[in-house]
Amino acid sequence: MREEFQAPRGFHDILGEDLRKFRYVTSTIRDILRRHNFEEIILPVVEYADLFERSIGETTDIVQKEMFVFEDRKGRRLALRPEGTAGAVRAYVQNRLFAQRTYHKVFYEGPMFRHERPQAGRYRQFHQIGVEVFGVAEPHADAEVIKVAHEIVETLKIKADIEINSIGCKVCRPAYREALVGYLNSVSEKLCSVCLDRKDRNPLRVLDCKVETCKEAVKEAPRVTDYLCEECRDHYSKLSEYLKALGVPYVENPHLVRGLDYYTRTVFEVVSPDLGSAIIAGGRYDYLVEEFGGPPTPALGFAAGIERIALLVDTPKEREPVYFVIPFGDVIPYALKVTDTIREKGKVAELSYRKGNLRKQLDFANKMGYRYAVIVGEDEMREGVVSLKDMETGEQVRVRPEDI
Ligand code: HAM
Repeated sequence: MREEFQAPRGFHDILGEDLRKFRYVTSTIRDILRRHNFEEIILPVVEYADLFERSIGETTDIVQKEMFVFEDRKGRRLALRPEGTAGAVRAYVQNRLFAQRTYHKVFYEGPMFRHERPQAGRYRQFHQIGVEVFGVAEPHADAEVIKVAHEIVETLKIKADIEINSIGCKVCRPAYREALVGYLNSVSEKLCSVCLDRKDRNPLRVLDCKVETCKEAVKEAPRVTDYLCEECRDHYSKLSEYLKALGVPYVENPHLVRGLDYYTRTVFEVVSPDLGSAIIAGGRYDYLVEEFGGPPTPALGFAAGIERIALLVDTPKEREPVYFVIPFGDVIPYALKVTDTIREKGKVAELSYRKGNLRKQLDFANKMGYRYAVIVGEDEMREGVVSLKDMETGEQVRVRPEDI
């Protein structure tokens, strides 16, 4: 196939077994969110580029190198959304949801776009289900949100570790930042060139660098949790208490900082040791609603990466039994009616469009894993019945279609 007719690098079709896993993951997560009473919102895939630049942060990888930015016909800069939080906050403010009630719990599902280097579990178009809670400052909301993430991996039987941290607020972060920059200056000869640049502009991100020498260099770095103000410390210790009450296992990772700038206080990641990366991640962003012109509204949430999670689940074995209707001779009107009758009863039926003898048709049904063959010949039509063959047991009976 000519290259220009293939999907662009990092973009994928999802089909067959992969799609079954994908749907299994999304329907499982949706069911968990339904029981937690989250309300769905559908957000645009395109927003003004500014929205992401302002919220995710000018110095982040996403904004500096990964956004798909383009101009519309009037020269306005638009972007394919790299994530869902900025759009959700924009929607919260624009639709004045804050005026309806004191807090809101919403979720969204859909494709996100980042121009990253593709590899297993990392794509340029990928899908997230994200949840956001607006209007709650108290840490029991953080505990419940992390509990949802825990429930997702538990229900899907995925091995993963929950890491949490608090990165403070406007009050306490400046002092930490200063201490961190001081430390980074003292080890600057060990930092990679990217981190040398980050060290002054966005020093927290150095803690997250994957380069070995940087990892080594930050081992002794000051810990943000040692610099938290009293309110942040209290918030973080209550979160720990509530997670224990909920039976959610977690580890504290004082170097967990996340790659987006809007976070305050709680940040967390659900990390898969098998993939070596986060499958679910999120945290608090208490200032973002206000920065977008809404009233001061503390908020938090997370996003689950569907493809990454789908890589870790087994395909659900149970599939709905399929009734494969095989017509023989001049029986098409009757076979059409039989197929419809089975569907009307809520079952899955397929009328065979194949030609060929019964043996071949049954072999095909077997190969496809269809549970029943519904054989419709001229004899059956005359008597108003079908021959129903159970492909697993081999048992065959004659029944009226409405009695299937
Ligand atoms: P994030 O950590 O950038 O957070 O992404 C969340 C999840 O999306 C990741 O843990 C991963 O599973 C998946 N993901 C990210 N990039 C890719 C990629 N290139 N290919 C495949 N999967 C990917 C956010 O997006 C925040 N909006 C989360 C949030 C919501 N924080 C508060 N509310």
